[in-house]
Amino acid sequence: MNDHGNARVVRGAVLTYRDDPAVAGPRRAVRFHRRGAVAVGADGRIAWRGPHGRLPERFRDLPSDDHGDALVLPGFIDAHIHFPQYRMLAAPGSDLLDWLNRFTFPEETRYASATHARAAAERFLDRLVQHGTTAALVFSSVHAGAAHALFAAAERRGHAIVSGKTMMDRNAPESLRDDPVSGARESEALLGRWHRRARLRYAITVRFAVTSTEAQLRAAGELAAAHPDCHVHSHLSETEDELALVRRLFPWAADYTDVYDRFGLLGPRSVFAHGVHLSERECTRLQESESVVVHCPTANTFLGSGLFDGGRLARAERPVRIGIGTDVGGGTSYSMLATLGEAYKVAMLTGRMPTAHDLFHLATRGNAMRLGLDDEIGTLEAGRWADLVVLDPAATPVLADRHALSEGIEDTLFALAILGDDRAVRATYVAGRLAWDAAAASSR
Ligand code: GUN
Ligand code: ZN
Repeated sequence: MNDHGNARVVRGAVLTYRDDPAVAGPRRAVRFHRRGAVAVGADGRIAWRGPHGRLPERFRDLPSDDHGDALVLPGFIDAHIHFPQYRMLAAPGSDLLDWLNRFTFPEETRYASATHARAAAERFLDRLVQHGTTAALVFSSVHAGAAHALFAAAERRGHAIVSGKTMMDRNAPESLRDDPVSGARESEALLGRWHRRARLRYAITVRFAVTSTEAQLRAAGELAAAHPDCHVHSHLSETEDELALVRRLFPWAADYTDVYDRFGLLGPRSVFAHGVHLSERECTRLQESESVVVHCPTANTFLGSGLFDGGRLARAERPVRIGIGTDVGGGTSYSMLATLGEAYKVAMLTGRMPTAHDLFHLATRGNAMRLGLDDEIGTLEAGRWADLVVLDPAATPVLADRHALSEGIEDTLFALAILGDDRAVRATYVAGRLAWDAAAASSR
């Protein structure tokens, strides 16, 4: 995966989080070296991180990429994104269900073709690194071949991807439906082949309660019980109309979360996108089970789904674990910077004002913890994979003018979250390998 040629020193203004700045305070949580360095070993992992002036002797002869004043951070982690929606951003549905039926399901039917899926997987992973994203929890389509294509491409690139074949056996076009038996069998075969191979993990993936029968939810729960090391990935409580449909389909359930709960689908490795309309009872069950809710702000505003109330979900008496994701293609940007900017605006509309450190922590160490990957990624501690994003705080004329007024690192980060996107990504390293180089791309 990685060879000796990837050992190097990456220089720049290095920033990482050792703790949650909202809990420990920024002084304890943030590590920032204005003239810093990250030494990458031949194995693609971080060997050392600190001020460049203190770079140990043994790393001094390594090739060095000097990014000057640009920021070097842990690569962004996207906690919820859809591979087969990689090119269908900006499809104007009147709401989630209209958007699924009119645009999303027809586009996903193309993934029956392994040729299409293989080409799309390359494009999808290109898009991630272009936007500084080095790890992601990814929905695939119903087709086992599409999930296989994504895993194979990610393995070749050394990319950290958690994904799985989507299970859906009702309320979708015939060509996008599996059945409880074939869905479980194909998931198990994929899991056997890909889970924990290279940097890949398997997620048992149920699209949402609307598109699975009780028999399929039961099969998914059995699979999760048999493979507790795998993730569970689904959607939960995104729109009011979806809630009404779930009430009709599962009249016995106390609420939407209860549907997943009854089939054994909650737990510390269970990750649910959205959680916009959760009741107090649901928050309590999600917290008790240590399940994760992923805020997808650009999708929620684009589809008019509602305003995610992070303050309420995180209430100290029963804090629900919260991650953040782009949700491309319901989301409108691959950029975790743009996503942080939208999360800030949604927070402001719900009475909260996150700090820049809160936002950047969430997209790096926070998401790594929510996905149970914090031993591997999310910080720049020695031993973690050298997944890095290099951000130019003066990448555009607007950013450059704003940067001239910057009062310090937190202010610089804030401007990047509000004004930044892929134009601010100068370089992306995956396991120490330069996977995106903006200068080289623009000179092509
Ligand atoms: N709920 C079920 N499927 C989807 C999807 O593809 N995108 C979003 N945003 N919500 C969903
Ligand atoms: Zn989604």
